[in-house]
Amino acid sequence: MQQTFKTILAIETSCDETSAAIIRGDHKRVTLLSNIVSSSASLQSKYGGVIPEFAAREQLKAIIPVIKESLFLAKLKPEQIEAIAVTVGPGLIGSLLVGVETAKTLSLVWQKPLIPVNHLVGHFYAHWLDNPTPPKFPCLGLLISGGHTDLVLMKDHHQFEYISGTRDDAAGECFDKGARLIDLPYPGGPAIAQAAQNGNPQVYSLPKPMLNSTDFDFSFSGLKTAILNLTNKIKGGNKTLTSQQQADLAASIQETISQVLIAKLVAASQSLGAEQVMIAGGVAANHHLKTKLSETFRQQLPRVAIHFPKLQFCTDNAAMIAAAAYFNPIVVESISLQANPGLNLI
Ligand code: KG4
Ligand code: ZN
Repeated sequence: MQQTFKTILAIETSCDETSAAIIRGDHKRVTLLSNIVSSSASLQSKYGGVIPEFAAREQLKAIIPVIKESLFLAKLKPEQIEAIAVTVGPGLIGSLLVGVETAKTLSLVWQKPLIPVNHLVGHFYAHWLDNPTPPKFPCLGLLISGGHTDLVLMKDHHQFEYISGTRDDAAGECFDKGARLIDLPYPGGPAIAQAAQNGNPQVYSLPKPMLNSTDFDFSFSGLKTAILNLTNKIKGGNKTLTSQQQADLAASIQETISQVLIAKLVAASQSLGAEQVMIAGGVAANHHLKTKLSETFRQQLPRVAIHFPKLQFCTDNAAMIAAAAYFNPIVVESISLQANPGLNLI
């Protein structure tokens, strides 16, 4: 029989966020006691993206203070923690190693069981945090993060069936690269969302990749090239875009990515007869996407329950890792645990 652990400390360091969280589980409910997130994104912003070596060094600086703060906020001592969970992959190897080696050390010193968690699975568990009405199974899930765009069927806790995914870039990557092309800072998603507030998505037209394909696959690399060509055409002989041109381009990029994601999710929901649908990952924080998605489902699939994670649990955080560990407490030998940067969802 599988052991259960009620009070779990989780560590997440897969990219440029250093996070530690403590949850308390009680049957099917997970209560958040603390969730500390320290991000080096604003420091990376001046380089236009994440520099892996730099991210790893920032992880090293932040990891101990972040863990201490999570214990302090939860008003717990290490003795009161029953298990330690950690993201083992996918992600940047230098960043992952900081979390994995710290978790292994704490597990050995504090003599606590160690639970490895797949970061992508963790994103879906954002729905089981402080949520009295989490998704019911089976649930169709769309993961939209910086490195992944995957459609899966979650049949039960930790039982995933892969349906489709991106053939090249991820949706978040398209936001990030699109932002860079129109001279907006990293991370591109929030920057595009903010600039788009003053823009009109009708001014510039962008192709909607694979919108009419009969499968549920995605592709965003062609869109990136189209943004580059369009931006160069608008700039003409000028070196910079006006702020109105930038806002209109941002609105078009956001609208185009949203339309593709929504069309595919609606088609997959209809084809699979889904009754429960959830989105997860950093791009799920996009307000425009959420509003359009709710509206489309209300009009076209009114019987389908669509779930959105709370805003603070969309982007990387350790709370979702703790929730994933609570529902699948597979303990491993601390000393032998290895980070796996290329880990897949299934
Ligand atoms: O899930 P996440 O925090 O990290 C990965 O696992 O990749 O996702 C990060 C991605 C980035 O590409 C970022 O630009 C995007 O999520 N993102 C957004 C928003 N906030 C973050 N994209 C669109 N709108 C947002 N508000
Ligand atoms: Zn993530």
